[in-house]
Amino acid sequence: MNEKQIVELEEKIMANTFAKRGLVITRGKGALVWDINGKEYIDCTGSYGVAVVGHCHPRVVEAVQRQVETLIACHASFYNDARSELLEKLIGIAPKGLDRVFLSNSGAESVECAIKLARKYSGKHEMIAMVGAFHGKTMGALSATWKKKYRAPFMPLVPGFKHVPPNNLEKVKEAITDKTAAVLVEPIRGESGVRVNSDDFLPGLREICDEKDVLLIFDEVQTGFGRTGKVFACEHWNVVPDIMCLAKSVAGGLPMGATFAREDVMAAFKRGEHSSTFSGNPLVCAAASAAIDVLIEEKLPERAATNGNYFKGKLEALAEKHRIVREVRGLGLMLGVEMRFDVYNILLDCMEQGVLVLDAGRNVVRFLPPLVIEKEQIDKVVKALDAAMEKENK
Ligand SMILES: Cc1ncc(COP(=O)(O)O)c(C=O)c1O
Repeated sequence: MNEKQIVELEEKIMANTFAKRGLVITRGKGALVWDINGKEYIDCTGSYGVAVVGHCHPRVVEAVQRQVETLIACHASFYNDARSELLEKLIGIAPKGLDRVFLSNSGAESVECAIKLARKYSGKHEMIAMVGAFHGKTMGALSATWKKKYRAPFMPLVPGFKHVPPNNLEKVKEAITDKTAAVLVEPIRGESGVRVNSDDFLPGLREICDEKDVLLIFDEVQTGFGRTGKVFACEHWNVVPDIMCLAKSVAGGLPMGATFAREDVMAAFKRGEHSSTFSGNPLVCAAASAAIDVLIEEKLPERAATNGNYFKGKLEALAEKHRIVREVRGLGLMLGVEMRFDVYNILLDCMEQGVLVLDAGRNVVRFLPPLVIEKEQIDKVVKALDAAMEKENK
């Protein structure tokens, strides 16, 4: 199929819910992807934060090849070697005390599971989420998501969700009632513009939740798996939640969600109360086991911290140079540059120069590159951004 045919078929048949970039990507390796014409791009989208270990990491490829010839499907009502191996590895990297996992297929599903679990454990139904939060687009997750544009067409949503301003512990306290099951929060808000919480916020939430006997849920779908310079972002503040959601990167590029919980919390789910046909699919589990090995053996969180600091420093230098930059934010290799205007042209300009970047809201350029990105590649990204800003300045 040629480029034109591919585009036409997707446009004609696929539900029209994605803002397309006009690019046909056909191959990837490490921090690079190539389009159908062989043009190379440094991928700072990381496929929306998925490609943490890099595209087509050889260890993931090998594990998938091995498993695909052994067993592809195995419902969780049967035990399976690839699944049990992964479960042990997941618990090995999780914050201490989160000893149980429910496996699913996406970020939104991992949040759905967390919401149901919090309701079941507490016997209460109210949930507190943050203004600006993004937790996915299925009905439960959407009820926790903030943006009106996503919510309004699908009213009524799941009842009992309240949104409070982040970094305001008093407002959280005020919002808690005797019907509150949990507080749900992203350690760093990705979709709303790479916004790092103030240092007292997560520890303060932990204290309030303990005091009020309310569960604390961290959504680490975007921040987890080494992205911010620690395996999980909550480690920056030494706070362990009662329930934690992970997805995107955990299976080296294959679809998987994982909801972690304390043993006593997960025990609230009785047989049949939550399930999914693909929960713990062996092929995906084999990929995830390999991805965890890569994460640890290649010291990717440490690499994200070092290269993230380097990248952020370069972006801050750009901010000094270009008045159109309002702020540089982020931790590790989860970075954002807030501009004084719409960033769409910057995205297109970078793309033309062989660099793929994301937006986050209207005026933030966001970087979620594979953690294997090299310093020289970061230099090229900064150079492209510099040129794009120069053009916008004129
Ligand atoms: C923090 C957070 N939670 C949940 C989700 C939803 O994940 P998915 O798109 O896999 O359903 C996302 C997706 O970007 C996210 O960033």
